[in-house]
Amino acid sequence: MLKDLIRKNRSYRRFDNNCKISKETLLELIDLARLSPSSANLQPLKYKLIYTTEECAKVFPFLSWAGYLPEWQGPQQAERPTAYIIIKREIEGSRNYAVDAGIACQSILLGATEKGLGGCIFGAVQREKLHTALAMNDEHEIVYVIALGKPVEEVIIEDVKNGDIKYWRDENNKHHVPKRKLADIIEE
Ligand SMILES: Cc1cc2nc3c(=O)[nH]c(=O)nc-3n(C[C@H](O)[C@H](O)[C@H](O)COP(=O)(O)O)c2cc1C
Repeated sequence: MLKDLIRKNRSYRRFDNNCKISKETLLELIDLARLSPSSANLQPLKYKLIYTTEECAKVFPFLSWAGYLPEWQGPQQAERPTAYIIIKREIEGSRNYAVDAGIACQSILLGATEKGLGGCIFGAVQREKLHTALAMNDEHEIVYVIALGKPVEEVIIEDVKNGDIKYWRDENNKHHVPKRKLADIIEE
């Protein structure tokens, strides 16, 4: 069921670094983004695939992990992502590209979840530094980065309590994500 897939499709930030992801798998995921909606059908997004150990090491330093967990500096080496998809846009001729990119992210992550993988979208990216580190084309700008891997963490969805939407980790390192109740987001 779609709802089961959406429930399972959480933001995962700890992975099995031994479980590599192939270029073919990334291409299958990007094909889902390719088939997704685009404002005025302009399709201004481009995708850079990162899947070797060396390239993954270039991306990691430029991402900010879990802003609500300031004491956590991101995953240790054994739990780092084994692939990334860098979503870029053509600077000329892009319109509503952020919406296109959001939809693309969701298509990619749903596809990853269906394959038993998982990931996290990054908006907090040191874009210019990453652009330079990857020697990217100057006509393109990074919009989002998606980290991918085989998740090793449990993520629990719960109701928002007392208006607090911050995710948190319990003593067993389980990651809790408060979601607003349906009744609280409906206006009648
Ligand atoms: C546009 C966007 C940007 C995000 N940027 C970051 C980020 O920079 N770093 C991070 O750790 N998580 C990032 N996230 C993940 C959110 O923190 C996550 O979606 C939220 O906590 C809810 O958890 P869930 O995805 O499991 O429902 C981003 C999510 C979205 C949609």
